[in-house]
Amino acid sequence: MAETAKIILDGKTYEFPVVQGTEHEKGIDISKLRAQTGYITFDIGFANTGSCQSAITYLDGEKGILRYRGYPIEQIAEHCTFVETAYLLIYGDLPTQKQLDKFSADFTAHSMIHEDMKNFFNGYPSSGHPMGILSAMVCSLAAYYPELIKPEPAKDDIYTVAVELLSKIRTICAFSYKKSIGEPFVYPRADLKYVPNFLNMMFSSPTKDYEIDEDVVNALRVLLVLHADHEQNCSTSTVRLVGSSLANLFASISAGICALWGPLHGGANQEVVEMLQQIQNDGGNIQKYVDMAKDPHKDFRLMGFGHRVYKNFDPRAKIIKQKADALLNKLGIHDPLLDIAVKLEEVALKDSYFIERKLYPNVDFYSGIIYRAIGIPVNMFPVMFAIGRLPGWIAHWKEMIESPATKIGRPRQIYTGSTQRNFISLEKRG
Ligand code: SDX
Repeated sequence: MAETAKIILDGKTYEFPVVQGTEHEKGIDISKLRAQTGYITFDIGFANTGSCQSAITYLDGEKGILRYRGYPIEQIAEHCTFVETAYLLIYGDLPTQKQLDKFSADFTAHSMIHEDMKNFFNGYPSSGHPMGILSAMVCSLAAYYPELIKPEPAKDDIYTVAVELLSKIRTICAFSYKKSIGEPFVYPRADLKYVPNFLNMMFSSPTKDYEIDEDVVNALRVLLVLHADHEQNCSTSTVRLVGSSLANLFASISAGICALWGPLHGGANQEVVEMLQQIQNDGGNIQKYVDMAKDPHKDFRLMGFGHRVYKNFDPRAKIIKQKADALLNKLGIHDPLLDIAVKLEEVALKDSYFIERKLYPNVDFYSGIIYRAIGIPVNMFPVMFAIGRLPGWIAHWKEMIESPATKIGRPRQIYTGSTQRNFISLEKRG
């Protein structure tokens, strides 16, 4: 007998089917709620609402579990390249050597942006935030691939757009950085793999060859892998919602970049380092800032702390902290901000305010320490998150567009405005 949920409304009992996932999480299917009862549900922030069924990523916030297509994130971070992880998320299985070689070769072949797009960068002030530039550039790619913006693209077209986006995002981000520091663009190279190619475009110049350090490449690989997907977070839900109108993948990803920019989401990694710098500049008074974060009358939060889903620990934060320690030791860097971050975590995790609210360091708390050690400027930290999250966005868009169950997203509301009233002419409005 299929499980159902009974709801009693206005003295009448209604039954709705219960849906269950492969990890035994359950949901009440209310697809027919309004038609049968006239009621809608009300769930600000969708904290209790499932928008879709998905086979891409599973996370258990209570147990700190995160799996990409069933593989634990710890194993993926240990063994997979970012290109391999992207293939896994988008196509559902780890690629064979042949599939990986083709995917990687296609990334190399598609790493350049059209020469005309270089002119776009000249229109931005050097102080322009790279997330705004990235979103505009990604949406502008649609102008160069009119054949790829059909409302219902073929499988091969989705593959091509995925390769174009995943490969070109490095070039666009590196070019925006070079523009911001007044240096000439460095083009992608055919002999470099994904991460070293990005680092070379970022940090080499006509007068200075960038020396590729395998520990730096590995640390950045792990960061990109850890950011690659996180089920129905704000930016991924944005990509799915925009794509549900049959908007093309370029437009949907551009919208996801904008959602990620917010300081409560992917913009938090920039906010964390700016917060740590503020604490350092203020004499390192950790307790002062912990007290500020607890004070409901102060508009201050410990950035990089807390999560809608993880209520014990964010498994990504644990790995990133280990990688930060290892990279700084390898590079012989002592970053005082890391000392402040570690102390902040220690103080906060002993404080009842954070314990009661189950607030722990999230993926953004330590990632900036690694970006700083690599030499990435703080305003590009959200851009690094976007590069990492791009495979997840593409995977969810593809899953959404290929699902026969998909309908255009259009939530309802509870209206709280004026009831009906008659028009008042200008003269009579006082
Ligand atoms: C990401 O969803 C994802 O998966 C996101 C992400 C991904 O991979 O896509 O994991 C990436 O976005 C990580 C989160 C990055 N953001 C930050 O670090 C910003 C700081 N964190 C918070 O703003 C907050 O914790 C959120 C936004 C992450 C979660 O917000 P919720 O679930 O809506 O929780 P809430 O705002 O309702 O807070 C619950 C309570 C409140 O206190 P009370 O009203 O109960 O007294 O906890 C407090 C909040 O004031 N609180 C914090 C806090 N976070 C929550 N207090 C101080 N500092 C914080 N950081």
